[in-house]
Amino acid sequence: MCGIFAYVGRQKAGGILLEGLKRLEYRGYDSAGLAVADKDKLRVIKKKGRVEVVAAKARRARLQAVMGISHTRWATHGDVNDTNAHPHLSDDSKIALVHNGVIENYASIKKFLESRNCSFQSQTDTEVLASLIAYHYAKEQPEEGKNRFLESVRKSLHHVEGAYGIAVICADYPNEIVGARKGSPLVLGVGNGENMISSDVSAFAGRTQNVVYLDDGQVVLITRDDFSVTTMMDESVQPVINRVDWEIEESVLGTFSHYMEKEIFEQPTSLENTMRGRFSDDGSTAKFGGLNIAARDLRQIDRILFCACGTAWHACLVAEYLIERFARLPVEVDYASEFRYRNAPLDKNTLVFVISQSGETIDTLEALRESKRKGFRTLAFTNVVGSTIARETDGGIYQHAGPEIGVASTKAFTSQILLAAMVALYLGRLRDLSFNDGTEIVKALKKTPGLVSQILDQADKIKAIAEKYADSRDFLFLGRQLMFPLALEGALKLKEISYLHAEGYPAAEMKHGPLALIGPECPTVFIAPKGEIFKKNLANIQEIKARKGPIIAITSTGSDFPEDLADDIIFIPQSHECVTPILAAIPLQLLAYYIARHRGCDVDKPRNLAKSVTVE
Ligand code: M6R
Repeated sequence: MCGIFAYVGRQKAGGILLEGLKRLEYRGYDSAGLAVADKDKLRVIKKKGRVEVVAAKARRARLQAVMGISHTRWATHGDVNDTNAHPHLSDDSKIALVHNGVIENYASIKKFLESRNCSFQSQTDTEVLASLIAYHYAKEQPEEGKNRFLESVRKSLHHVEGAYGIAVICADYPNEIVGARKGSPLVLGVGNGENMISSDVSAFAGRTQNVVYLDDGQVVLITRDDFSVTTMMDESVQPVINRVDWEIEESVLGTFSHYMEKEIFEQPTSLENTMRGRFSDDGSTAKFGGLNIAARDLRQIDRILFCACGTAWHACLVAEYLIERFARLPVEVDYASEFRYRNAPLDKNTLVFVISQSGETIDTLEALRESKRKGFRTLAFTNVVGSTIARETDGGIYQHAGPEIGVASTKAFTSQILLAAMVALYLGRLRDLSFNDGTEIVKALKKTPGLVSQILDQADKIKAIAEKYADSRDFLFLGRQLMFPLALEGALKLKEISYLHAEGYPAAEMKHGPLALIGPECPTVFIAPKGEIFKKNLANIQEIKARKGPIIAITSTGSDFPEDLADDIIFIPQSHECVTPILAAIPLQLLAYYIARHRGCDVDKPRNLAKSVTVE
């Protein structure tokens, strides 16, 4: 949550900061702002609303400075208004600071500073830290040869509890920016005659591909031509420069109306990329480069625990079904936020698997850390290369789905399911799954991108169905077995971008309560592909029809679905059971997208949400 971006170089900083900030807007968009060092004064421009609002103000200000910090906010402390927008200035206007995270002990620090006649403008925890740095800066004489500005930041952070990724500037040091992280991500971008700090590498697009992923407890000082990384105890750190190999075009909207739409339509390619080079030469199993765990050790695993949040948690539920089916290994799925405080007793041969698109979700990260602390072997699926989870897990598999900008997860979800199917296949082949079953699954998985394209070709039909139901206030999403997580995902997708009430249930559970919602005003999206329990699904649909509930059915071609049973039918191709969840996801995504679009919602930036949830 919240995106921060800082730049020091030879070019005017204003435009560069705003361009970087636009790429970070998916992290929060309640307000935006920037601060630059102009001669020996700090100038702050900030405003409630989107980056473009601040951009208009900044253009009028004709900023000349070649360094500055910027921020796009997802509010934690204090209302969404101009005053609470970042950057925050210290009481003496010497220090400006942007922050991503939560300073838990801000109230006691504030009290201390107030007792020293410091006053505050905003309700934020961040302003308190700006003034704490200014307090130390004014009061302390650093040791000979030490940078006073840097030392005042370090000193202040020793008093801070909570999580932060920060970038700080000081009026007396117009060529230097200090950054630090604990619990919130921070990356250093190493350019040519310019250096940058950001919450995420996407802000560096077009400027540099050389990045240093900072670890918790590290402090960075950047100037135009140099940078240094140290610990909170001032020990020097040898930075490792990584090369990011994404293309800028990948994060550009092109002819699509929204990133969500673009990302839905990218799925044939993203799925292809997720699979590329990951099947064995004999075509009977999957292979992964980064697991860091030998097949012999994987055979000793008795149980897998999956942890994640939101859509990634739904992908875990799909993984549970598939791994139990193919590998006959017991799987448990927990919300990362619950697991981390639950102190769950786990069998010693448990493998902990986390899934996170961003690799920065704080609850998932902490679940991973808690598992590692207890000595469990950990694995992860992440999409963002170099993210904190990717770096801290014992082993992992990158999704290679490409940057996902829309807040609603789409292509990342289907790539997570695909990887779940591949891991299930791999584990199955280590146990009882036959060569023939393995080759059948591999063949089916390889066909997935083509089948997804066939569903995308029906976008116009799905749009018409979406618009027919777009005025309904409540929706029910039902499915059984592998389609149950898809029902949850369909409901989540709809509610997060269209603000309509939607609930997902295992189909048979509807009789235990949700059926009371049913009536002509409440449509049900029923996911009923061909399979063992198809007839049971038809019976449930009859029960809804008997109560005059409209039905939008998602079923497979050739499933003998009685045409008069549903008000609208969307067909997905008949496929192997491990592919069907991916196929079912596509119409659900399109339905949610077109409903939200029809209702005039801000699809890519739904209210109150952010792409990467880095606060608890
Ligand atoms: O980056 P992560 O996969 O860890 O994110 C987890 C959830 O915050 C995320 O899936 C969220 O539920 C999506 N906005 C749903 O579309």
